Amino acid sequence: MKDLNFRHGDAKSDVFGTDAMINPSPVDKIPNGPTTPEIAYQMVKDETFPQTQPRLNLATFVTTYMDDYATKLMNDAISINYIDETEYPRIALMGQKCINIIANLWNSPEQNRWKTGAVGIGSSEACMLGGVSAWMRWRKRRMAQGKPYDKPNFVVSTGFQVVWEKFAQLWQIEMRTVPLSIDNPTLDPKRAIEMCDENTICIVPIAGCTWTGMNDDIEELDKEVTKFNKKTGNELCIHVDAASGGFILPFLKPHVRWDFRLDNVLSISTSGHKYGLVYPGLGWVIWKDKKYLPEEMSFSVNYLGADITQVGLNFSRPAAQILGQYYQFIRLGFQGYKAIQQNSMEIAEYLHEEIGKMPQFKNYSNEVVNPLFIWSLNPKYDKVANWTLYDLQYKLQQNGWMVPAYTMPKDLEQCVVMRIVCRQGFSRDMADMLLTDIRMAVSDLEKLSYPTQSRVEVNRDIHPKHSFNHGGRQCKKN
Ligand SMILES: Cc1ncc(COP(=O)(O)O)c(C=O)c1O
Repeated sequence: MKDLNFRHGDAKSDVFGTDAMINPSPVDKIPNGPTTPEIAYQMVKDETFPQTQPRLNLATFVTTYMDDYATKLMNDAISINYIDETEYPRIALMGQKCINIIANLWNSPEQNRWKTGAVGIGSSEACMLGGVSAWMRWRKRRMAQGKPYDKPNFVVSTGFQVVWEKFAQLWQIEMRTVPLSIDNPTLDPKRAIEMCDENTICIVPIAGCTWTGMNDDIEELDKEVTKFNKKTGNELCIHVDAASGGFILPFLKPHVRWDFRLDNVLSISTSGHKYGLVYPGLGWVIWKDKKYLPEEMSFSVNYLGADITQVGLNFSRPAAQILGQYYQFIRLGFQGYKAIQQNSMEIAEYLHEEIGKMPQFKNYSNEVVNPLFIWSLNPKYDKVANWTLYDLQYKLQQNGWMVPAYTMPKDLEQCVVMRIVCRQGFSRDMADMLLTDIRMAVSDLEKLSYPTQSRVEVNRDIHPKHSFNHGGRQCKKN
């Protein structure tokens, strides 16, 4: 009798002897029947097989290393939905403990036993919640004053992360951007204030700008906001987007005043999955006090076995990240976090120095303020080079490294830069391997006797304006 299972049913064949492995994987339609878990596993695994090793990905800010205990805890909790607070009340409590710990790291003055905050799937959700709370507070005030509330705006630098564009579009709140320039590589507090009026719901400074790694001067901004409020009688406030800086500043620069110590900072967001050292996706937003979280943002449901109040855009969300965050707090403590962030910082400084020594390159800033930095081609070299940083990105990719080249945001878009984000799991040895690969790639590229395609395109589109040439931060001006 014909053995129908052989090759067709897949149950008896070795994985690589089955029909599935010689047929394309499904793209449009769900397959008609089931296959074995071994085959399904192999197909999914193979599809992601050729990708970069996460720890060689120097483009991402997101955690790519956690120790085995953290990984085990998170795997054990993989089936748990955070929203099911009645079934898993201890996890809700653990989330609240994380909120307390983070609020205190940011010098919260809140007197309540449980500080006011919320968990997000990342900084994006946390930023949205901070932004929405500012908008609702402003709207309530305007309503109470009998004034129109249909034209809200907020102010941020052009170094904003895309989440703020989403916030503006989705909630229809005008985004006013303060241009970054060579002389003002971070948000200019005075210019930010000039853009504010009675319809401004908040200003959003950034601690750890995605494009440059730099910090906005939040203390100076706070002073300007105080002056503005005194003069106008408005209640302009600050939401800090501390996606990266929120877990760097408290450990490495505790003396810098950027957080709830400042009068006008009413909410702060961060990514637990960046320098919070947890796998994706986890974000946090904290309010200075319960009174700054509008009641309308809390929703209660009763169908999970009790009255559950939650603040968030998503309803269901993974609980594993909360376990991961709380584990890291216990495991590392303040000193452990400090040591890890310090190491990332020192490795970033080392790479920054070595890259700065190469005649082909020029660093954007003289200083590294977060464990990441950007650089461009040296303007003199740029004039004669047959290659661009895009070619270097491609070459490094062949060795498994992901080091992105990109153009800077609006007003500086003529600059092509490369960025390295140093994170836990990136050792000095790896930094040296990377430097060797960069030097070898550059030496290969220098042998080219004709321009690469990207050089031709760059020269055609933006030459000669696409490199830095200005003291420490060397972008050419328009
Ligand atoms: C400054 C800033 N804000 C917000 C975000 C969005 O963060 P997430 O990816 O955690 O949603 C990022 C991400 O890189 C960021 O750098």
